[in-house]
Amino acid sequence: MSADTPRGFAATRCVDERRRGDILALVHAAFAGLSPPSGALHETIDEVAARLAAGPVLICEAGGELIGCVYGAVKEGGLYLTRMAVRPDWQKRGVGRALLLAAEAEARSRGLRKLTLRVRVNLPENRAFFERAGFTVTGQGQNPGRPAYEVMESPIADPAS
Ligand SMILES: CC(C)(COP(=O)(O)OP(=O)(O)OC[C@H]1O[C@@H](n2cnc3c(N)ncnc32)[C@H](O)[C@@H]1OP(=O)(O)O)[C@@H](O)C(=O)NCCC(=O)NCCS
Repeated sequence: MSADTPRGFAATRCVDERRRGDILALVHAAFAGLSPPSGALHETIDEVAARLAAGPVLICEAGGELIGCVYGAVKEGGLYLTRMAVRPDWQKRGVGRALLLAAEAEARSRGLRKLTLRVRVNLPENRAFFERAGFTVTGQGQNPGRPAYEVMESPIADPAS
């Protein structure tokens, strides 16, 4: 377990596959209530285990409890982020931003040049959150029968700059 910061939480890479049940419960709780319903609600324990094995999965803990997570996958020279989830009672307290900083550090340590993700067009507050964190829209798309999304990217700053 990582040490909590003065704000009461800390983000790290998860290397313990025994956390998969906690991660699944968190993802299901955070994505409940979206309209139309998120595919995240159908995620299974085996899929979480596969994410942990492929990694990196970044988590945020407070007092040993899981309060945030995001999956990372190396794609096209960047770290592609999915299922960013903050426990509802911890939202708007900086956990999401801490997860993004942890993802940036992870990407930099792997020599990757950008963070990428997708946001639903019908969730403008999510787009605004990522824009304030330095992301810009670089594309859009839509899978059959699913909500339209925008692709967002944030460059990884050179540590020397
Ligand atoms: C989207 C999501 C991941 C954001 O996480 P979060 O922890 O709420 O985000 P943060 O707290 O870091 O930032 C949210 C806002 O709260 C503000 N905030 C941070 N700490 C705060 C505090 N102590 N008091 C008040 N506001 C605070 C931040 O400044 C930020 O505002 P900004 O967007 O104007 O910068 C979270 O809302 C979530 O899990 N949503 C459901 C699942 C989802 O939609 N995931 C994203 C898929 S693309």
